[in-house]
Amino acid sequence: MMGPGWCAVVVLLAMTEAAAGRFVVEKNSVRVTSPEGLKGKYECAIGNFGVPQYGGTLHGWVVYPKVNRQGCKEFDVSFKDKEHRSGARPNFVLIDRGECFFTTKAWNAQIAGAAAVLVVDSKDEPLITMDNPDDTGTKHLENITIPSVLITKKLGEDLKKSAEKGEMVSVLLDWRESLPHPDERVEYEFWTNSNDECGPKCDMQMDFVKSFRGTAQVLEQKGYTQFTPHYITWYCPEAFVVSKQCKSQCINHGRYCAPDPEQDFNKGYDGKDVVFQNLHQVCVFKVANDTGKPWLWWDYVHDFAIRCPMKEKKYTHECASHVIKSLGLDIEKIDKCVGDPEADEENPILKAEQDAQIGHGKRGDVTILPTLVVNNRQYRGKLDKGAVLKAICSGFEETTEPTICLSEDVQTNECLENNGGCWLDNDNNVTACRDTFRGRVCECPIVKGVKFVGDGYTNCEASGIGRCEINNGGCWKETKNGKTISACSHEESNGCKCPEGFKGDGIKSCEDIDECKMKTACQCTGCSCENTWGSYECSCAGGDSMLYMREQDTCISKQAVSSVGWSFMWVIFFGLVFAGVGAYAVYKYRLRSYMDSEIRAIMAQYMPLDSQEGANQQQHVAHAGDI
Ligand SMILES: *[C@@H]1O[C@H](CO)[C@@H](O)[C@H](O)[C@H]1NC(C)=O
Ligand SMILES: *[C@@H]1O[C@H](CO)[C@@H](O)[C@H](O)[C@H]1NC(C)=O
Ligand SMILES: *[C@@H]1O[C@H](CO)[C@@H](O)[C@H](O)[C@H]1NC(C)=O
Repeated sequence: MMGPGWCAVVVLLAMTEAAAGRFVVEKNSVRVTSPEGLKGKYECAIGNFGVPQYGGTLHGWVVYPKVNRQGCKEFDVSFKDKEHRSGARPNFVLIDRGECFFTTKAWNAQIAGAAAVLVVDSKDEPLITMDNPDDTGTKHLENITIPSVLITKKLGEDLKKSAEKGEMVSVLLDWRESLPHPDERVEYEFWTNSNDECGPKCDMQMDFVKSFRGTAQVLEQKGYTQFTPHYITWYCPEAFVVSKQCKSQCINHGRYCAPDPEQDFNKGYDGKDVVFQNLHQVCVFKVANDTGKPWLWWDYVHDFAIRCPMKEKKYTHECASHVIKSLGLDIEKIDKCVGDPEADEENPILKAEQDAQIGHGKRGDVTILPTLVVNNRQYRGKLDKGAVLKAICSGFEETTEPTICLSEDVQTNECLENNGGCWLDNDNNVTACRDTFRGRVCECPIVKGVKFVGDGYTNCEASGIGRCEINNGGCWKETKNGKTISACSHEESNGCKCPEGFKGDGIKSCEDIDECKMKTACQCTGCSCENTWGSYECSCAGGDSMLYMREQDTCISKQAVSSVGWSFMWVIFFGLVFAGVGAYAVYKYRLRSYMDSEIRAIMAQYMPLDSQEGANQQQHVAHAGDI
């Protein structure tokens, strides 16, 4: 029985051919923001577990524990924010490399309340990718939600020294440039495997397909993404092609191989069954893509895993065919694409997969399964719906990301704490803080159609039409005796102005002007003045027989008032004349008879009406009446 060892040889050989390509360590930047002496931008390697904040940043204080510095045991201290020193910023833990799995360190830090882990390399070397172990030690893998990064020994030593001296050390982890974001479409690949019996990794892979399927399909259907699934295969070295091992692990005469699922050639399914099913999955994608429905791949993979599992011995061509048919895909085309696995010839589909595996551009070789590639860069971290969506979202050129990227799944919830440091109007529940996957932004909002303008941090003001509806446009407003007076005016697009009868800044206060005291009104002889809120009342000396004329600040006799009343009649009369109703001539003479000099004098105060104009006006009326 030569299981795993032999397997390793094949992998090794297959990989030497790919030596032209290389493994690329995916990085994000770490900016030391204090102490002064260490300030600067450094690089760190993104760990392939936990949840990196693709597209975003995380700012925290660095804590170097006094004991358990390798983080292999549970910490007996808490890294939760200690208010006296950290404010709203979380704590990152500095942990030495060595002794135990990276995932164990991350888990211990997470349960002690750390927001991120900085693992310090133990030797001077280029950065490496921290991966999760394959079989053992993965029991907490799925539950690690904090990001982990590896920093160089040099940077680590410097940070430790500062921390031990008692200096405040803070760093900003920045993933904003970890993935390119050139345009409004994201291309991504998922390097996967149809094998469903490889332990936690296979389970996580399937969980991911299940949870991400819906999102992936929506993104694809709306044209936001172009997705391609991929499968890694190995090949058998020439000399081994006729061996029992190659025959059981490979198809097409040793050309395309996969490791035995149980690593036992005499038991259960063999590597060749896995390659064969992988080939089906590529072909399903190809045929679905050719008919313009590439998203059917997600349904196929999902359904196949449920309907054709290895443990129920249904991992077969027949079962696959049932699933293909149920999805309405052309089974003949797919069978043609799959070809004859016994034939001693190349399969163009799998050949293309092998070529794609070799890195090009910035991507590097794909050697970890499963691997997600976003905009030709490998994603690192947990295959979790929210985390992956965040990564895909960060691949869009800013402002072109689909609305799903602004949904709750990918929010950072930074607004919950201290309102993200943004402007907040508590009384009216209006805030400038908006959570996005890129982190929070402080932007004056639009509330009920009213646009707020300002810097978003210290001030935002409602502006434009409708602004008075919200918080009265930030202006003064008061109600007294059932009368409400506001300094917000719809006519003015911004600012506040006390209405007539008031003085003040219009924002905090408007004070009633005492017109009587100021002697700005009711100065007619014998008149008595009484101030009211926002106005005044003036009564004439002559009592009931006299009427106070506000604009002119004068008193006139009631007789004149009746003439004034006539002036309104005159207005109505205009209307009548224009409508061509009524006997114009009669009114004309009556009107004239009332136009004695006294009335004309009063009316002149209401409209420019000297005798000349008056004559014109009558002519004009006459014309109108003639029509
Ligand atoms: C991981 O979290 C889930 C849900 O919170 C829980 O059911 C499971 O027991 C956890 N697993 C481990 C190993 O902690
Ligand atoms: C899928 O279809 C699109 C457009 O129809 C094409 O550009 C793309 O190359 C296809 N992908 C594959 C893997 O065939
Ligand atoms: C403020 O608005 C948010 C969202 O619009 C709502 O969830 C919350 O209950 C509101 N709070 C108050 C005090 O009105």
